[in-house]
Amino acid sequence: MLKKDEIIQLLNPVKDPFLHRSLEETEGVKEVTIKEDKNHVSVKVAIGKTNTAEQMQLQQEIVGILKKNGASTVGLRFEQLPDDVIKKYQSAVEESKEASLMGGNTDTKFIAVASGKGGVGKSTVTVNLAMSLMRLGKKVGIIDADIYGFSVPDMMGIEERPVVRAEKIIPVERFGIKVVSMGFFVEDNSPIIWRGPMLGKMINSFFKEVEWGDLDYLLLDLPPGTGDIAMDVHSLLPSCKEVIVTTPHPTAAFVAARAGQMALKTDHEILGVVENMAYFESKKTGEKEYVFGQGGGKKLAEALSTKVLGQLPLQQPYEEEDVFAPSIYQQDHPIGQEYHKIASKVVAKMEE
Ligand SMILES: Nc1ncnc2c1ncn2[C@@H]1O[C@H](COP(=O)(O)OP(=O)(O)OP(=O)(O)O)[C@@H](O)[C@H]1O
Ligand SMILES: [Mg+2]
Repeated sequence: MLKKDEIIQLLNPVKDPFLHRSLEETEGVKEVTIKEDKNHVSVKVAIGKTNTAEQMQLQQEIVGILKKNGASTVGLRFEQLPDDVIKKYQSAVEESKEASLMGGNTDTKFIAVASGKGGVGKSTVTVNLAMSLMRLGKKVGIIDADIYGFSVPDMMGIEERPVVRAEKIIPVERFGIKVVSMGFFVEDNSPIIWRGPMLGKMINSFFKEVEWGDLDYLLLDLPPGTGDIAMDVHSLLPSCKEVIVTTPHPTAAFVAARAGQMALKTDHEILGVVENMAYFESKKTGEKEYVFGQGGGKKLAEALSTKVLGQLPLQQPYEEEDVFAPSIYQQDHPIGQEYHKIASKVVAKMEE
Protein backbone atom coordinates (compact mmCIF):
# COMPACT_ATOMS: atom_id res chain seq x y z
CA MET A 1 0.00 0.00 0.00
CA LEU A 2 1.29 3.45 -0.93
CA LYS A 3 2.12 5.84 1.86
CA LYS A 4 1.30 9.55 1.82
CA ASP A 5 4.99 10.53 1.62
CA GLU A 6 5.55 8.18 -1.27
CA ILE A 7 2.58 9.63 -3.14
CA ILE A 8 3.91 13.16 -2.70
CA GLN A 9 7.34 12.00 -3.89
CA LEU A 10 5.75 10.44 -6.96
CA LEU A 11 3.73 13.52 -7.86
CA ASN A 12 6.32 16.20 -7.09
CA PRO A 13 8.17 15.90 -10.43
CA VAL A 14 4.94 16.11 -12.47
CA LYS A 15 4.77 19.38 -14.43
CA ASP A 16 2.00 21.96 -14.22
CA PRO A 17 0.89 22.14 -17.87
CA PHE A 18 0.42 25.92 -17.75
CA LEU A 19 3.28 27.13 -15.64
CA HIS A 20 5.75 24.48 -16.85
CA ARG A 21 7.00 24.04 -13.30
CA SER A 22 6.99 20.90 -11.19
CA LEU A 23 4.20 20.45 -8.68
CA GLU A 24 6.95 20.55 -6.07
CA GLU A 25 7.89 24.09 -7.11
CA THR A 26 4.32 25.34 -7.30
CA GLU A 27 3.34 23.40 -4.16
CA GLY A 28 0.57 21.97 -6.28
CA VAL A 29 -0.08 18.75 -4.33
CA LYS A 30 -2.66 20.02 -1.89
CA GLU A 31 -4.19 16.98 -0.24
CA VAL A 32 -3.52 13.28 -0.14
CA THR A 33 -5.86 10.82 1.56
CA ILE A 34 -5.64 7.07 1.54
CA LYS A 35 -8.34 4.50 2.19
CA GLU A 36 -6.28 1.47 3.19
CA ASP A 37 -9.10 -1.07 3.11
CA LYS A 38 -9.98 -0.29 -0.51
CA ASN A 39 -6.45 0.65 -1.60
CA HIS A 40 -7.93 3.93 -2.79
CA VAL A 41 -5.86 7.10 -3.11
CA SER A 42 -7.44 10.49 -3.42
CA VAL A 43 -5.49 13.59 -4.32
CA LYS A 44 -6.22 17.29 -4.69
CA VAL A 45 -3.94 19.10 -7.12
CA ALA A 46 -3.73 22.85 -7.76
CA ILE A 47 -2.66 24.01 -11.24
CA GLY A 48 -2.46 27.24 -13.25
CA LYS A 49 -5.74 26.77 -15.09
CA THR A 50 -8.54 24.29 -14.52
CA ASN A 51 -11.15 22.64 -16.75
CA THR A 52 -9.03 22.43 -19.86
CA ALA A 53 -7.80 19.74 -22.21
CA GLU A 54 -4.41 20.00 -20.51
CA GLN A 55 -6.06 19.17 -17.21
CA MET A 56 -7.51 16.03 -18.77
CA GLN A 57 -4.06 14.95 -19.88
CA LEU A 58 -2.58 15.68 -16.50
CA GLN A 59 -5.35 13.67 -14.90
CA GLN A 60 -4.46 10.63 -16.99
CA GLU A 61 -0.79 11.10 -16.19
CA ILE A 62 -1.35 11.26 -12.43
CA VAL A 63 -3.81 8.37 -12.34
CA GLY A 64 -1.35 6.35 -14.42
CA ILE A 65 1.54 7.03 -12.04
CA LEU A 66 -0.44 6.15 -8.94
CA LYS A 67 -1.92 2.97 -10.38
CA LYS A 68 1.46 1.82 -11.65
CA ASN A 69 2.75 2.23 -8.14
CA GLY A 70 0.08 0.16 -6.50
CA ALA A 71 -3.14 2.14 -6.05
CA SER A 72 -6.27 0.23 -7.09
CA THR A 73 -8.40 3.30 -7.59
CA VAL A 74 -7.58 6.97 -7.73
CA GLY A 75 -9.80 9.96 -6.99
CA LEU A 76 -8.50 13.24 -8.34
CA ARG A 77 -9.73 16.78 -7.84
CA PHE A 78 -8.30 19.94 -9.35
CA GLU A 79 -8.34 23.51 -8.14
CA GLN A 80 -6.66 26.67 -9.32
CA LEU A 81 -3.45 27.86 -7.68
CA PRO A 82 -3.61 31.19 -5.83
CA ASP A 83 -3.22 34.24 -8.09
CA ASP A 84 0.14 35.27 -6.66
CA VAL A 85 1.66 31.86 -7.40
CA ILE A 86 0.32 31.95 -10.97
CA LYS A 87 1.66 35.48 -11.49
CA LYS A 88 5.06 34.52 -10.17
CA TYR A 89 5.58 31.80 -12.78
CA GLN A 90 3.45 33.24 -15.58
CA SER A 91 5.82 36.00 -16.64
CA ALA A 92 8.65 33.48 -17.02
CA VAL A 93 6.37 31.37 -19.22
CA GLU A 94 5.48 34.39 -21.36
CA GLU A 95 9.10 35.39 -21.74
CA SER A 96 10.16 31.97 -22.91
CA LYS A 97 7.22 31.81 -25.32
CA GLU A 98 8.19 35.14 -26.84
CA ALA A 99 11.85 34.19 -26.93
CA SER A 100 10.97 31.09 -28.92
CA LEU A 101 9.13 33.27 -31.43
CA MET A 102 12.35 35.22 -31.85
CA GLY A 103 14.53 32.14 -32.37
CA GLY A 104 15.61 32.03 -28.74
CA ASN A 105 16.48 35.69 -28.35
CA THR A 106 15.16 36.91 -25.01
CA ASP A 107 16.26 40.52 -25.27
CA THR A 108 13.95 41.82 -27.98
CA LYS A 109 11.41 44.33 -26.78
CA PHE A 110 8.10 44.63 -28.60
CA ILE A 111 6.23 47.84 -29.22
CA ALA A 112 2.91 47.91 -31.06
CA VAL A 113 1.68 51.14 -32.60
CA ALA A 114 -2.11 51.27 -32.41
CA SER A 115 -4.99 53.65 -32.99
CA GLY A 116 -8.74 53.57 -32.82
CA LYS A 117 -9.28 54.62 -36.40
CA GLY A 118 -7.48 54.69 -39.70
CA GLY A 119 -5.43 57.40 -41.29
CA VAL A 120 -4.17 59.06 -38.12
CA GLY A 121 -0.54 58.28 -38.84
CA LYS A 122 0.25 54.90 -37.22
CA SER A 123 2.45 53.76 -40.06
CA THR A 124 4.20 57.11 -40.27
CA VAL A 125 4.85 57.00 -36.53
CA THR A 126 6.05 53.38 -36.67
CA VAL A 127 8.51 54.05 -39.45
CA ASN A 128 9.88 57.26 -37.95
CA LEU A 129 10.05 55.90 -34.43
CA ALA A 130 12.05 53.00 -35.87
CA MET A 131 14.38 55.47 -37.61
CA SER A 132 14.95 57.44 -34.41
CA LEU A 133 15.60 54.29 -32.38
CA MET A 134 18.10 53.23 -35.03
CA ARG A 135 19.76 56.65 -34.83
CA LEU A 136 20.02 56.10 -31.07
CA GLY A 137 22.09 53.01 -31.84
CA LYS A 138 19.39 50.38 -31.42
CA LYS A 139 18.92 47.32 -33.59
CA VAL A 140 15.39 47.70 -34.91
CA GLY A 141 12.88 45.66 -36.88
CA ILE A 142 9.39 46.45 -38.16
CA ILE A 143 6.50 44.06 -38.70
CA ASP A 144 3.94 45.67 -40.94
CA ALA A 145 1.03 43.85 -39.33
CA ASP A 146 -1.50 45.73 -41.43
CA ILE A 147 -1.90 42.84 -43.81
CA TYR A 148 -4.66 44.46 -45.85
CA GLY A 149 -3.40 48.00 -45.90
CA PHE A 150 0.35 47.44 -45.76
CA SER A 151 2.19 50.67 -46.35
CA VAL A 152 5.57 50.40 -44.65
CA PRO A 153 7.53 49.35 -47.77
CA ASP A 154 6.22 52.30 -49.76
CA MET A 155 6.79 54.72 -46.92
CA MET A 156 10.41 53.64 -46.53
CA GLY A 157 10.98 53.44 -50.25
CA ILE A 158 11.66 49.70 -50.26
CA GLU A 159 11.67 48.19 -53.72
CA GLU A 160 13.48 44.92 -53.17
CA ARG A 161 11.94 41.71 -51.91
CA PRO A 162 13.10 39.43 -49.11
CA VAL A 163 15.16 36.36 -49.91
CA VAL A 164 14.74 32.93 -48.40
CA ARG A 165 17.75 31.28 -46.82
CA ALA A 166 17.71 27.90 -45.07
CA GLU A 167 13.92 27.95 -45.21
CA LYS A 168 13.74 31.26 -43.37
CA ILE A 169 12.70 34.63 -44.74
CA ILE A 170 15.44 37.21 -44.44
CA PRO A 171 13.86 40.62 -43.77
CA VAL A 172 14.62 43.44 -46.16
CA GLU A 173 16.99 45.97 -44.64
CA ARG A 174 16.50 49.68 -45.21
CA PHE A 175 18.58 52.24 -43.33
CA GLY A 176 19.68 49.32 -41.14
CA ILE A 177 16.08 48.55 -40.14
CA LYS A 178 14.78 45.06 -40.82
CA VAL A 179 11.33 45.05 -42.37
CA VAL A 180 8.74 42.38 -43.08
CA SER A 181 5.45 43.30 -44.72
CA MET A 182 2.60 41.50 -46.42
CA GLY A 183 3.33 43.85 -49.27
CA PHE A 184 6.43 41.77 -50.04
CA PHE A 185 4.34 38.72 -50.79
CA VAL A 186 1.65 40.23 -52.95
CA GLU A 187 1.86 40.63 -56.68
CA ASP A 188 1.34 44.07 -58.18
CA ASN A 189 -0.47 45.58 -55.25
CA SER A 190 -3.48 43.32 -55.86
CA PRO A 191 -5.92 43.11 -52.97
CA ILE A 192 -5.96 39.99 -50.84
CA ILE A 193 -8.87 38.50 -49.01
CA TRP A 194 -7.99 36.82 -45.77
CA ARG A 195 -10.24 34.54 -43.87
CA GLY A 196 -10.35 34.68 -40.08
CA PRO A 197 -7.95 31.87 -39.15
CA MET A 198 -5.45 32.94 -41.82
CA LEU A 199 -5.00 36.29 -40.16
CA GLY A 200 -3.52 34.92 -36.95
CA LYS A 201 -1.37 32.47 -38.90
CA MET A 202 0.08 35.33 -40.91
CA ILE A 203 1.25 37.19 -37.83
CA ASN A 204 2.63 33.96 -36.45
CA SER A 205 4.57 33.40 -39.68
CA PHE A 206 6.01 36.88 -39.45
CA PHE A 207 7.83 35.58 -36.40
CA LYS A 208 8.37 31.90 -36.92
CA GLU A 209 9.40 31.98 -40.54
CA VAL A 210 11.49 35.11 -40.40
CA GLU A 211 15.13 35.28 -39.39
CA TRP A 212 15.10 38.41 -37.25
CA GLY A 213 18.53 38.05 -35.67
CA ASP A 214 19.17 39.77 -32.37
CA LEU A 215 17.01 42.88 -32.34
CA ASP A 216 16.69 45.37 -29.51
CA TYR A 217 13.28 46.56 -30.65
CA LEU A 218 10.63 45.07 -32.87
CA LEU A 219 7.91 47.53 -33.80
CA LEU A 220 4.50 46.37 -34.99
CA ASP A 221 2.43 48.62 -37.19
CA LEU A 222 -1.09 47.46 -36.37
CA PRO A 223 -4.12 47.87 -38.58
CA PRO A 224 -6.60 50.43 -37.28
CA GLY A 225 -9.08 49.51 -34.58
CA THR A 226 -9.32 46.62 -32.20
CA GLY A 227 -9.83 43.79 -34.68
CA ASP A 228 -8.48 40.26 -34.95
CA ILE A 229 -4.88 41.22 -35.60
CA ALA A 230 -4.69 43.39 -32.53
CA MET A 231 -6.10 40.50 -30.50
CA ASP A 232 -3.60 38.06 -31.99
CA VAL A 233 -0.75 40.37 -31.13
CA HIS A 234 -2.06 40.66 -27.61
CA SER A 235 -2.11 36.92 -27.09
CA LEU A 236 1.09 36.20 -29.00
CA LEU A 237 3.16 38.88 -27.28
CA PRO A 238 1.93 39.36 -23.74
CA SER A 239 4.87 41.62 -22.88
CA CYS A 240 4.30 43.90 -25.86
CA LYS A 241 4.02 47.59 -24.96
CA GLU A 242 1.85 50.04 -26.86
CA VAL A 243 2.07 53.47 -28.35
CA ILE A 244 -1.33 54.95 -29.19
CA VAL A 245 -1.61 57.45 -32.00
CA THR A 246 -4.41 59.96 -32.25
CA THR A 247 -5.19 63.24 -33.93
CA PRO A 248 -6.03 66.20 -31.70
CA HIS A 249 -9.71 65.98 -32.52
CA PRO A 250 -11.65 65.01 -29.40
CA THR A 251 -13.70 62.43 -31.32
CA ALA A 252 -10.56 60.78 -32.69
CA ALA A 253 -9.20 60.62 -29.17
CA PHE A 254 -12.42 59.07 -27.97
CA VAL A 255 -12.17 56.37 -30.61
CA ALA A 256 -8.48 55.83 -29.86
CA ALA A 257 -9.44 55.26 -26.24
CA ARG A 258 -11.05 52.00 -27.31
CA ALA A 259 -7.74 50.69 -28.60
CA GLY A 260 -6.17 51.85 -25.37
CA GLN A 261 -8.83 50.23 -23.22
CA MET A 262 -8.15 46.96 -24.91
CA ALA A 263 -4.44 47.28 -24.21
CA LEU A 264 -5.25 47.90 -20.58
CA LYS A 265 -7.67 44.99 -20.43
CA THR A 266 -5.09 42.62 -21.83
CA ASP A 267 -2.49 43.96 -19.42
CA HIS A 268 -0.40 45.63 -22.09
CA GLU A 269 1.45 48.60 -20.76
CA ILE A 270 0.79 51.80 -22.67
CA LEU A 271 4.00 53.77 -23.16
CA GLY A 272 2.13 56.90 -24.09
CA VAL A 273 0.11 58.80 -26.64
CA VAL A 274 1.46 60.43 -29.78
CA GLU A 275 -0.68 63.29 -31.02
CA ASN A 276 -0.18 63.49 -34.75
CA MET A 277 -1.27 66.29 -37.07
CA ALA A 278 -1.43 68.37 -33.91
CA TYR A 279 -1.22 71.74 -35.66
CA PHE A 280 -0.09 73.52 -38.78
CA GLU A 281 2.66 76.06 -38.47
CA SER A 282 2.71 78.81 -41.03
CA LYS A 283 6.10 79.14 -42.67
CA LYS A 284 5.49 82.83 -43.24
CA THR A 285 4.35 83.97 -39.82
CA GLY A 286 5.29 81.03 -37.56
CA GLU A 287 1.75 81.07 -36.30
CA LYS A 288 0.21 77.77 -35.20
CA GLU A 289 -3.19 76.81 -36.48
CA TYR A 290 -4.99 73.95 -34.79
CA VAL A 291 -6.70 72.70 -37.92
CA PHE A 292 -7.88 69.41 -36.41
CA GLY A 293 -8.89 70.80 -33.06
CA GLN A 294 -6.99 70.69 -29.84
CA GLY A 295 -6.55 68.66 -26.70
CA GLY A 296 -7.33 65.19 -28.04
CA GLY A 297 -3.93 63.75 -27.11
CA LYS A 298 -4.04 65.09 -23.60
CA LYS A 299 -7.58 63.90 -23.06
CA LEU A 300 -6.73 60.44 -24.30
CA ALA A 301 -3.58 60.24 -22.17
CA GLU A 302 -5.63 61.14 -19.12
CA ALA A 303 -8.26 58.54 -19.93
CA LEU A 304 -5.54 55.90 -20.20
CA SER A 305 -3.54 57.16 -17.20
CA THR A 306 -0.51 57.76 -19.34
CA LYS A 307 1.44 60.68 -20.85
CA VAL A 308 1.61 62.45 -24.18
CA LEU A 309 4.96 61.43 -25.66
CA GLY A 310 4.94 64.13 -28.27
CA GLN A 311 2.94 66.32 -30.64
CA LEU A 312 3.75 66.23 -34.31
CA PRO A 313 2.71 69.07 -36.57
CA LEU A 314 1.42 68.71 -40.09
CA GLN A 315 4.37 68.75 -42.43
CA GLN A 316 5.82 66.62 -45.17
CA PRO A 317 9.37 65.22 -45.05
CA TYR A 318 12.06 67.02 -47.04
CA GLU A 319 12.32 65.74 -50.54
CA GLU A 320 15.65 64.02 -50.60
CA GLU A 321 17.27 63.72 -53.95
CA ASP A 322 19.51 60.73 -53.39
CA VAL A 323 17.45 58.62 -50.99
CA PHE A 324 13.91 57.69 -51.80
CA ALA A 325 11.85 57.29 -48.62
CA PRO A 326 8.66 59.32 -48.96
CA SER A 327 7.54 59.22 -45.32
CA ILE A 328 10.82 59.42 -43.46
CA TYR A 329 11.79 62.66 -41.79
CA GLN A 330 15.52 63.32 -41.78
CA GLN A 331 17.31 63.83 -38.49
CA ASP A 332 17.56 67.60 -38.92
CA HIS A 333 13.92 68.05 -39.96
CA PRO A 334 11.84 69.64 -37.17
CA ILE A 335 9.59 66.58 -37.10
CA GLY A 336 12.68 64.33 -37.20
CA GLN A 337 13.85 66.08 -34.05
CA GLU A 338 10.45 65.63 -32.47
CA TYR A 339 10.65 61.90 -33.20
CA HIS A 340 14.09 61.85 -31.61
CA LYS A 341 12.58 63.15 -28.38
CA ILE A 342 9.75 60.62 -28.53
CA ALA A 343 12.22 57.78 -29.14
CA SER A 344 14.37 58.89 -26.21
CA LYS A 345 11.34 58.81 -23.94
CA VAL A 346 10.38 55.39 -25.24
CA VAL A 347 13.88 54.03 -24.60
CA ALA A 348 13.91 55.51 -21.10
CA LYS A 349 10.58 53.84 -20.35
CA MET A 350 11.51 50.52 -21.87
CA GLU A 351 14.89 50.27 -20.21
CA GLU A 352 14.02 51.64 -16.79
N1 LIG B 1 2.31 64.88 -39.40
C1 LIG B 1 1.94 64.66 -40.66
N2 LIG B 1 1.98 65.67 -41.56
C2 LIG B 1 1.58 65.47 -42.84
N3 LIG B 1 1.12 64.31 -43.32
C3 LIG B 1 1.05 63.27 -42.48
C4 LIG B 1 1.46 63.39 -41.12
N4 LIG B 1 1.28 62.17 -40.52
C5 LIG B 1 0.79 61.35 -41.47
N5 LIG B 1 0.64 62.00 -42.64
C6 LIG B 1 0.09 61.45 -43.88
O1 LIG B 1 -1.24 61.03 -43.61
C7 LIG B 1 -1.56 59.83 -44.29
C8 LIG B 1 -1.99 58.77 -43.29
O2 LIG B 1 -0.89 58.41 -42.48
P1 LIG B 1 -0.55 56.90 -42.15
O3 LIG B 1 -0.67 56.06 -43.36
O4 LIG B 1 0.71 56.88 -41.38
O5 LIG B 1 -1.77 56.58 -41.18
P2 LIG B 1 -2.27 55.18 -40.64
O6 LIG B 1 -2.88 55.46 -39.33
O7 LIG B 1 -1.18 54.19 -40.69
O8 LIG B 1 -3.36 54.82 -41.70
P3 LIG B 1 -4.09 53.40 -41.92
O9 LIG B 1 -5.11 53.32 -40.87
O10 LIG B 1 -4.64 53.51 -43.29
O11 LIG B 1 -3.03 52.35 -41.79
C9 LIG B 1 -0.32 59.47 -45.07
O12 LIG B 1 -0.45 59.92 -46.36
C10 LIG B 1 0.80 60.21 -44.36
O13 LIG B 1 1.85 60.54 -45.22
MG1 LIG C 1 -1.07 52.28 -41.59
